[in-house]
Amino acid sequence: MTVTNADRMECSVHLSADGRAVEILDQTQLPNRTVTLRLTTAREVYDAIRTLAVRGAPAIGICAGYAMYVLALQRRDLPGPAFRAAMEADGAFLISSRPTAVNLSWAVQRMLRVLSDHADASVAACVELLRRESLAIHTEDIEMCRRIAEYGLTLVQPGDGILTHCNAGPLATSKYGTATGPIFLGRERGMAFRVFADETRPLLQGARLTAYELERAGVDVTLICDNMASVVMKQGWVQACFVGCDRIAANGDFANKIGTSGVAILAKHYGIPFYTLGPSSTIDMACPTGAEIRIEQRDPDEIRTMWYREPMAPPGVKCYNPAFDVTDHTLLTAIVTDRGIVYPPFDVNLKNLFEQSE
Ligand code: MRU
Repeated sequence: MTVTNADRMECSVHLSADGRAVEILDQTQLPNRTVTLRLTTAREVYDAIRTLAVRGAPAIGICAGYAMYVLALQRRDLPGPAFRAAMEADGAFLISSRPTAVNLSWAVQRMLRVLSDHADASVAACVELLRRESLAIHTEDIEMCRRIAEYGLTLVQPGDGILTHCNAGPLATSKYGTATGPIFLGRERGMAFRVFADETRPLLQGARLTAYELERAGVDVTLICDNMASVVMKQGWVQACFVGCDRIAANGDFANKIGTSGVAILAKHYGIPFYTLGPSSTIDMACPTGAEIRIEQRDPDEIRTMWYREPMAPPGVKCYNPAFDVTDHTLLTAIVTDRGIVYPPFDVNLKNLFEQSE
């Protein structure tokens, strides 16, 4: 598959045409407004990630990769040691913006590794190497999404009902998306699916983003509230659940948007196959189980006041607002990656996946 610059520019995150900024489609404004933000400082990138202007595990990683290059370019006149120290500090700052999705630290560390692997290189040479690495991270994500889509498509039949949670589509990744990849690729090949998109409280990624992406592409999509998934499953309308992932542990437990584990429990009850789809950059073999995944806690006002004309709860009410949950690997039918479909036992087969491809 050949990835062109035009392919990269189409994505929700890309390097600006002048190469001096990270440009993102502000996902907080969708579906009502299409707003592009130009990010040039570490603080702007941190805030964009923190506020979910850019969101979705792979997209955050791509954004962080480009940000490291843009910041390096701004520091090209520094002496070598000061340049390297500044890049380390920027990397640590960006990583601190959100804790759960592994792609963020993965991308920053990959960029910093370029510097440690070229300890004697000049600053100018390092800047060029970082430019290439940031583009490679993006190109690889486009290619990985395509391969995930191909593998995922083998798991469903035309006409199937597919339930998805949150947004793991093109906005959150590159091109096809991960969980939505088989749906978009199938549509290109004339296969029609009926998709049920959970709205995904509290930030409504399913309603605002997944329903928007699928409807624009002409896919049959039905928006449901999160608490309607069980009814839809009970009617026999769902043949498979496809969800994304933010970090997959070595035993197959995985973190994804809050509510995912509930969908998995329901799917098990109704005997529906439940898959997570994600690139190999989301698999964290250094994380033994889901218990070690740090879960982000977010502002209670996302539950109390956001999205409504008036606050929907007493102003001071105590809220619990974890952004993610961990789905136990025992609920998972398979993990669909760019390197193939991984079935249980996940601890053994995830290890094999990496050993075989190295
Ligand atoms: O908080 P978000 O919107 O960044 O959470 C994103 C999700 O949980 C997605 O489902 C996940 O990142 C997969 S994106 C391909």
